[in-house]
Amino acid sequence: MTGTLYGISLGPGDPGLITRAAWAQLQRRDAVWVYPARSGKTPSYAFDIVQRAGLEPPAEHALLLFPMTHDGEKLARAWLRAAETVLPWLRAGRDVLFLVEGDASTYATFGHLARTVRALDAQVGVKIIAGVNAFTAACAEVPVPFAEQDDTVAIVPAAYGVSAVDRLLPDFDTLVLMKVKPLLDELIDWLERRDLLAGAHFIERVGAPDERRFSGRDILALRGTKVSYLSLLIVKHPHRIRGERIKGCLKKSGPLPLLEESA
Ligand SMILES: C[S@@+](CC[C@H](N)C(=O)[O-])C[C@H]1O[C@@H](n2cnc3c(N)ncnc32)[C@H](O)[C@@H]1O
Repeated sequence: MTGTLYGISLGPGDPGLITRAAWAQLQRRDAVWVYPARSGKTPSYAFDIVQRAGLEPPAEHALLLFPMTHDGEKLARAWLRAAETVLPWLRAGRDVLFLVEGDASTYATFGHLARTVRALDAQVGVKIIAGVNAFTAACAEVPVPFAEQDDTVAIVPAAYGVSAVDRLLPDFDTLVLMKVKPLLDELIDWLERRDLLAGAHFIERVGAPDERRFSGRDILALRGTKVSYLSLLIVKHPHRIRGERIKGCLKKSGPLPLLEESA
């Protein structure tokens, strides 16, 4: 019987945010642990979380290398190498736990690995243990609500550029900007230009011992400085002009106009 490849969400850094379901999996001694790192020189952030949680790795565990690149060929080679590393264990009937920082289905390498493994061997089962992602943990730390009542939220990698982010402003009350590192100075200029600094929060390595947070105009101090790849921006847009709600979950005092009637 072939083993199952698990995506074990660990939350963004605070071991207290590891779910009971993930914790139970991590207690197993029959499963193999694998965890990602960008290079042999960079420690695995996911492995660091389990170590800070006081969890001991099982006898068999391995680091998988996933370079930080947009080069499709290099990425595909890394996914294949990783898949070939875990397949012998899975084919021998062992379950493999891939440790994921944050949530395993949110911008995680796990999806690529699972697809590559399944392409090589369709017998392998895949399961995901859901977890806390970085942006909800960041909102809790600030603290600021992620979304209230009928708020609209966009979660986007900032990599599409400031003009793409700017185009979202009319439609969203909260913008979560992921992967902000390479564009941080441009994003700070944009926040200032658009008068959004008052509702903006920068959070780096949320939940880790070296977490940093900057809110409002304090964010300006980050211009020209080096920040971690593990950082994001939460931007609240208080000046947004909202459209009329057609239907909602709240009880109306009068009858709700039907779409057809109001058309
Ligand atoms: C590849 S995505 C991983 C997302 C993660 N799986 C999650 O559920 O939050 C990496 C991006 O997520 C954000 N991120 C992940 N962990 C973070 C942390 N501990 N603190 C702040 N931002 C984080 C950053 O924007 C980073 O560039």
